[in-house]
Amino acid sequence: MPLLAALAAEFRATRPLAGRRLGMCLHVEPKTAVLVDVLQAGGCEIALTGSPATTDDGTAAELASRDGVTVWAKKSDDVAAHRTHLARVLSFEPDLLLDNGAELIAGSVAQRLGVTAATEETTSGANRLKAELRGGVPFPVVLIDDSPLKRLIENTYGVGPTVVEGFMRATNLLVAATAFCVIGYGACGRGIARALRADGATVLVVERDPVKALEAAFDGMAVRSLDVALGTANVIVTVTGSTGVIGRRELGLVRDGVLLANAGHFSEIEVAALGDGVRLTADVTEHVVGGRRIRLLGRGEMLNLTAAAGNQIQVMDLGFALQAHSLRALAADPGRFAAGPQPVPPEIDDAVARGMLASLSAATA
Ligand SMILES: NC(=O)c1ccc[n+]([C@@H]2O[C@H](COP(=O)([O-])OP(=O)(O)OC[C@H]3O[C@@H](n4cnc5c(N)ncnc54)[C@H](O)[C@@H]3O)[C@@H](O)[C@H]2O)c1
Repeated sequence: MPLLAALAAEFRATRPLAGRRLGMCLHVEPKTAVLVDVLQAGGCEIALTGSPATTDDGTAAELASRDGVTVWAKKSDDVAAHRTHLARVLSFEPDLLLDNGAELIAGSVAQRLGVTAATEETTSGANRLKAELRGGVPFPVVLIDDSPLKRLIENTYGVGPTVVEGFMRATNLLVAATAFCVIGYGACGRGIARALRADGATVLVVERDPVKALEAAFDGMAVRSLDVALGTANVIVTVTGSTGVIGRRELGLVRDGVLLANAGHFSEIEVAALGDGVRLTADVTEHVVGGRRIRLLGRGEMLNLTAAAGNQIQVMDLGFALQAHSLRALAADPGRFAAGPQPVPPEIDDAVARGMLASLSAATA
């Protein structure tokens, strides 16, 4: 992760986060540990939690063994355990937040904690900040996912291949000659649909925004209504940033034997509506709903993290470099930023893009 390695050296020399308390929610996996290296080099203390089902227990144990880092995260965490961990991170009384889904930000606002600034990693968190929490956050929040650079490199180019990899690892089934329904044709959905098609799948797209739906049609995808696509597909993948996209009603429309997966933030599939299931393999459970067998992959959490190793190392290097740069700028001068959600400053996007280009040129020279 050359961008983070360079930032770690800078942070060690300049200590931009000295004396700060950082509350952090991010998938706990090896690449996240490299970001933690950088932030610790900057001088802050960290309280960290992850996300249900995506924690790598070895990484959590390694991070917990470090001075200045407290970790609450286990692979076996369910949503209830995750909520308890979020409360623990807030009880650490952070003054900076690095959030994933805007739960820490919402909690810190409700409890009137002394947070001065935050970053938010995901589209789902950004959506919450722009809708439900609109106008209610008294400190600046830099939305990493609103960076055009991050959306292009991670969401479109990164997520597609790793979600397909997660599907293959979880099921050991063919992608070719299989009908996949991708719900949501945004930055991630576009990448997933393209990666599936490149491997020979038939791809049905369900998209509520007519402009994005038209883009899918122009990309050669079969755009269908939700109900038609659910009744046709062998595999359904949700990636909308919305919650409850597949609930009780939708489960009544799927084919017997359908495989159900999520690549967006958790809660796109109402897992409780599936009832109890039988564990077929580590990443597949079978549920019977209305007489139909439904196979849930990766507990309905992000498939590229539950069943594969997450997004590629270089891709996460870029996204996490945007995080470290943004936190440094926010810590240095929060008054330079307006209160509430906002995009990554363009000069940070430019610096990170230049850095990645240089590292790729070096690697291919
Ligand atoms: N798996 C990963 O590694 C990974 C990486 C980045 C982002 N994400 C997550 O993936 C999700 C999508 O991110 P994105 O960047 O593609 O967002 P986006 O906003 O670019 O795209 C989401 C699309 O879904 C559509 N949509 C929303 N609700 C819908 C519904 N009910 N039915 C049909 N279409 C609907 C929207 O119109 C939009 O076009 C988010 O939850 C984000 O946090 C996952």
